[in-house]
Amino acid sequence: MSSCLIEADGGGLVDLVVPETSRDGKIKEAELMPKIHLSKIDLEWVHVMSEGWASPLKGFMREEEYLQSLHFNSLRMKNGSLVNMSLPIVLAIDHRSKHTIGASTNVALLAPDDANIVAILRSIQIYKHNKQERIARTWGTTSPGLPYVDEVITPAGDWLIGGDLEVLQPVKYNDGLDHYRLSPQQLRHEFHLRQADAVFAFQLRNPLHNGHALLINHTRRTLLEMGYKNPLLLLHPLGGFTKADDIPLDVRMEQHIKVLEDGVLDPQTTIVAIFPSPMHYAGPTEVQWHAKARINAGANFYIVGRDPAGMGHPTEKRDLYDPDHGKKVLSMAPGLEKLNILPFRVAAYDTIAKKMAFFDPTRAQDFLFISGTKMRNYARNGENPPDGFMCPGGWEVLVTYYKSLQAQ
Ligand code: ADX
Repeated sequence: MSSCLIEADGGGLVDLVVPETSRDGKIKEAELMPKIHLSKIDLEWVHVMSEGWASPLKGFMREEEYLQSLHFNSLRMKNGSLVNMSLPIVLAIDHRSKHTIGASTNVALLAPDDANIVAILRSIQIYKHNKQERIARTWGTTSPGLPYVDEVITPAGDWLIGGDLEVLQPVKYNDGLDHYRLSPQQLRHEFHLRQADAVFAFQLRNPLHNGHALLINHTRRTLLEMGYKNPLLLLHPLGGFTKADDIPLDVRMEQHIKVLEDGVLDPQTTIVAIFPSPMHYAGPTEVQWHAKARINAGANFYIVGRDPAGMGHPTEKRDLYDPDHGKKVLSMAPGLEKLNILPFRVAAYDTIAKKMAFFDPTRAQDFLFISGTKMRNYARNGENPPDGFMCPGGWEVLVTYYKSLQAQ
């Protein structure tokens, strides 16, 4: 593997999928274990961990890992070094499951929709799930209306179960997008084949507009000026749980592909892949996870702009987080020192130049901020956004999507 690629956290990429030759034996063994049904989002985390995005984490967190993640946003390795781990990756169970498990040391994890055994969790530990503490520390608020909290944590059980994960076969979704779900190992291989001497990652969960493209193309130029000969972009939309009014993954993928076809980004120097993580909307805490996971995929540069992983406050008329805190926190985060953070100012529509540009506070009146809500309203009402906001092909995908919603 190319020596240019950044080393995975903890020194080596974790791979928790068992070899095919031992699969049948493990399934037989697992059939005799107590069983827990995973939720759809639990399975997304199994997927994330199985491929090593959370390296060196080897399974759902036991209490010591959970406490380090919750209180220090990082994990201490045996050799004393520190890796970033800002989101607890935990599996919640209820009293009944805890009772069923009893004194067993291993459990079998079942798929959400059927009784297929997906994985084994070994040498388990069960501990209290103090939801309020977890929510307050992860989001900095217990305000009602946080999507991941409402949909995942509040309905979850009062116990957490940690252990070493053995995944019986690669997680697939069969939604026509699996070929975009490249594992960190596959991405590293691809970067190596393409002889990348720098990899810059761009996390997103929204359609790609020309403001995003401005950050990306600016980065590429900067890297070339720095002397890199073949910097590659990892365009990396998040593919797991998102809130109800975010645009679904299949539509976003179609939009991203159009953006490449329209030449807004250079297809020759871009790899589009799906990041399988669920979204927390935990702002500066979560953006650390987004960045850390990309180290494991081989990225040594990470772009961050306005209000990463943020959202509007669920009950007040303001952003939940200071829009500048994500990039400030990322630049200082423990365990992310080896990642080059590329912080960007906010991009907005310059009504004089008629294109997306970095916001210039000295002529604020010339700029138009096109929020997600504003964009949705344009698309819903069949209005076009100002010329130069998004390429026509990409915009068309969104209009078709919103029209299909109205038809329902
Ligand atoms: S995120 O939840 O994945 O962070 P989004 O898809 O909106 O949300 O943003 C992707 C990246 O683009 C993040 O780094 C974010 O900070 C940046 N970004 C989004 N909009 C702007 C903007 N108008 N100006 C500068 N950066 C932006």
